[in-house]
Amino acid sequence: MNVLEFQKQKSKRKLTMVTCYDTWSARLIAGTSIDAILVGDSLAMVMHGHPTTLPATTALMALHTKAVARGLGSQLLVADMPFLSYRKGLRTGVEAAGTLMQAGAHAVKLEGARGHLDLITHLVDSGVPVMGHLGLTPQSIHQLGGFKVQGQNPAEFDRIHQEALDLERAGCFSVVLECVPSKLAARITADLKIPTIGIGAGAETDGQVLVLQDMLGTNEGFKPKFLRTFMRGADLIKDALNDYDREVKSGSFPNDKESYT
Ligand code: KIV
Repeated sequence: MNVLEFQKQKSKRKLTMVTCYDTWSARLIAGTSIDAILVGDSLAMVMHGHPTTLPATTALMALHTKAVARGLGSQLLVADMPFLSYRKGLRTGVEAAGTLMQAGAHAVKLEGARGHLDLITHLVDSGVPVMGHLGLTPQSIHQLGGFKVQGQNPAEFDRIHQEALDLERAGCFSVVLECVPSKLAARITADLKIPTIGIGAGAETDGQVLVLQDMLGTNEGFKPKFLRTFMRGADLIKDALNDYDREVKSGSFPNDKESYT
């Protein structure tokens, strides 16, 4: 799916996006009807064990984007621009976006609006589709004081709504809305021509995104209100590992059929 096909789905049907950080899971997703893949900077937390997304660098994002691109099916591939990579001036921002596009991304995503609307317009005019991201913007976690719902007071509600309009005007092809009240997400979705993709933003957005490991139930102990797990992944994987361990130790694996004569 390309960005134009992605955009056309608004008000026709819901869009689906999941995060993906490696070839193995990209190949699995390739065999599904999922519309888009996000190489999210959440990989710093999920794959590298950091407490925040801040340690992700452009080089790390490019490494994972290349791995995903090698297993990609028909999905739109969006890569996150990491912390501060788009806050050091136009030239640095363009270079970071270029690195991710040359790694195989079809579009980049960046957080917030204030201070980088010009860069967004410049990227779009240069042929780089840009996805926005508002509400809980994890790269600003220290400014926000933690992973909390955003836009709950009237001033914040209006600011996020205005920023969504600004992102559309700057040229974004879509906007992620993370951890905002459903009412705010619904209002933004109604007021924008571009699709909104929600995570913890209720049912009224044009689509949903979840972190793959979370929705597969492999991220034990992570149970935010918005998360639905579609598989008991941690239990299934641990059962399989214990079966393997038991069968090796009991001598039943490998058997004759699994051995070369
Ligand atoms: O990095 C990420 O995984 C994200 C999604 C949660 C939207 O930005």
